[in-house]
Amino acid sequence: MPVSTSLSCFGCELDASPGAFGHVRESADCLGSPAELRRRLEEDGYLYVPGFLDRDLIHAARASVCERLAAEGALDPAYPVIEGMSHPDKVTNFNAALARRNAEVSRVVYGPEILGFYETLFGEPVRHFDYTWFRALSRGQGSPPHCDLVYMGRGTHELLTCWIPYGDVPLEMGGLMLLEGSHRQSERIKRYLEVDVDAYCENKPKQVDKVVNRLGWSHPGFLSKNPATLREKLGGRWLTARDWKAGDFITFGMTVVHAGLDNHTSRVRLSSDTRYQRASQPADERWIGEDPIANTLAGKRGRVC
Ligand SMILES: [Fe+2]
Repeated sequence: MPVSTSLSCFGCELDASPGAFGHVRESADCLGSPAELRRRLEEDGYLYVPGFLDRDLIHAARASVCERLAAEGALDPAYPVIEGMSHPDKVTNFNAALARRNAEVSRVVYGPEILGFYETLFGEPVRHFDYTWFRALSRGQGSPPHCDLVYMGRGTHELLTCWIPYGDVPLEMGGLMLLEGSHRQSERIKRYLEVDVDAYCENKPKQVDKVVNRLGWSHPGFLSKNPATLREKLGGRWLTARDWKAGDFITFGMTVVHAGLDNHTSRVRLSSDTRYQRASQPADERWIGEDPIANTLAGKRGRVC
């Protein structure tokens, strides 16, 4: 099957002109300067640090995840497992089981390098969420624009997401993109940012049924299904890396609008997203502990609306 190089997100074609699409700023040059890192985080809403992690660690984590995918039958057996070639009949997307009790992935996301980075950045002891989000996106799969706050806002809002690709991710394979300057648009999307997907109205039977009985969300979580019109409305450009490489990471705050570009290749795109905060601040109870309650019944919160 030919590889399409078209740029799309959630099936929506994106304007790739310089005024609408661009690249994230690199910050590997100021790793030794916490003050500059903080300034850039404040200014841009994110920090992109290419080549930060040892590629061997990433490769080991990739190998472990690919083994699990192969065991599920998600990979094409005609290719080496490490290639992560998608089985032609299988569609894969979010799959936290790929990272659960996975020593190689934990070594990457909770190892001394990443934790050290956040300690330097916050200037004090840090903690991470114990829940590890992991995605294995096959062809045609992406993620619609959203802010992470609606999924994890019950503790401190000074929480940072870290997105890590497990392998090189050329543009046609998709990858994370951020809406430039969107962390300064919180007032405009205030009502959306107040959402807690696991909260529901006790006095609304339909919501109770959806959230409590069927363990769904009271809100779909995304801000828009259409990244093109959202960008026109909020301004800024959609930004991604020129060429994501194994060893790169990007970190950003809870109110940055971001999305996943669609994968136009036959290989599965592997990435984790994990969370870090000051240890001294409260943490969202859904995502901590040996077996985080996550979006299960224990994580649902009713109120009278
Ligand atoms: Fe996200």
